[in-house]
Amino acid sequence: MLNFEFKNPTKIHFGKDTISKLTTEIPQDKRILLLYGGGSIKSNGIYEKVLDALSGHQVVEFGGIPANPEYSILLQALDLIKEENIDFLLAVGGGSVIDGTKFLAAAANYDGEPWEILTKPVRTFEGQALAFASVLTLPATGSEMNSGYVISRRETQEKLSSGGPGLFPVFSILDPEVVRSIPQRQIANGIADAYTHVLEQYMTYPAGALLQDRISEGILLTLQEIAPSLLSKEFDYTAASNFMWSCTMALNGLIGKGVPTDWAVHGMGHELTAQFGIDHARTLAIVAPSHYRYNLQTKKDKLAQYAKRVWDLSGDDTEALALQGIEKMESFFHSLGIDTRLSEYTKDFEGAAEKVKSAFEARGWKGQGEYRKLTPEDAQKIVAMSY
Ligand code: NZQ
Ligand code: ZN
Repeated sequence: MLNFEFKNPTKIHFGKDTISKLTTEIPQDKRILLLYGGGSIKSNGIYEKVLDALSGHQVVEFGGIPANPEYSILLQALDLIKEENIDFLLAVGGGSVIDGTKFLAAAANYDGEPWEILTKPVRTFEGQALAFASVLTLPATGSEMNSGYVISRRETQEKLSSGGPGLFPVFSILDPEVVRSIPQRQIANGIADAYTHVLEQYMTYPAGALLQDRISEGILLTLQEIAPSLLSKEFDYTAASNFMWSCTMALNGLIGKGVPTDWAVHGMGHELTAQFGIDHARTLAIVAPSHYRYNLQTKKDKLAQYAKRVWDLSGDDTEALALQGIEKMESFFHSLGIDTRLSEYTKDFEGAAEKVKSAFEARGWKGQGEYRKLTPEDAQKIVAMSY
């Protein structure tokens, strides 16, 4: 097992009726900015629950943060934070709203041009950010219990990430009842995103981290087990609660400690969202199978372990098992209703791979993946394999 440090300070309130905890978790003297997305919280009752819990607090609102949170819109929220002397941010939404809030928490106390936080990138250390918390409405990203975030800038077709130990939410409220109103497409996205978060931290090379491997496999198996129930029309609390906790556990830092991690699938996927606006999770399903086929030689031991332990396949030929594991992975994405070829999302796919290569080069990303050896040319070939 590799050496590691681990600290995750986010307090979790998990379960039914936990939104009411806002009343006591946020000090009465705070001036709160309530941040939300395109309006789903107004039609599913979450907005009322939040306002009820905060009826004794001073609350200013900022709505309209879009999926793939947009820099230019967040700058308007940043002005509001300054005008209204806000000293606490509350994100009520999915990964986009929470990520946007993290960016604002970092930018509020940053003296330079806010975009530098993403381009340099500037890490935000403990005590440097404005305090913030979240009410999660969409299980997927793990943003509710981690310190990373991703911001898009449509003007320049960029999608960049940043973070730092000062950007963990103070607390997050995880009420699985919110899953009731999530459209099927977003449920499928959430499952695929969390599934790929595990793969990014698991599908590398064996590092003697037996417990991390078993926890990762446990999350993959749980997601596979509950997927049919989550995608059926009937709401099932057991499935919803396991979905929510699996997504959080997939990216709260725990399973990535003591093991090599990859994250190249996300690097390439973010470029496809920047170019085509494809949902984050779907870009991962497009890139992942090709990435694993392209890197078969360095990843085959873990791929074969995945095939055996997660899909119950057997055999002595490591390479054959590894390839079967990738097929199972792809079928799983299909079972969620998610296409795994770029050409199934856009007719303009020609040239996408070259653009990914250029973007990687422009950022100086010369070596990605667990060996820090995946070059921009490799990324180009992988994306081209995904057409
Ligand atoms: O905007 P509203 O109206 O709220 O609707 C949202 C949005 O349209 C809707 N939704 C959310 N909760 C709902 C609901 N609809 C009905 N009922 C509810 N309870 O779902 C749509 C998608 O929301 P979004 O927040 O964009 O989805 P997700 O949570 O998948 O977040 C995606 C963003 O997170 C980033 C992605 O790149 C992308 O920008 N990521 C963040 C990570 C992190 N911070 O650790 C890691 C991830 O790998 C990912 O990159
Ligand atoms: Zn993701």
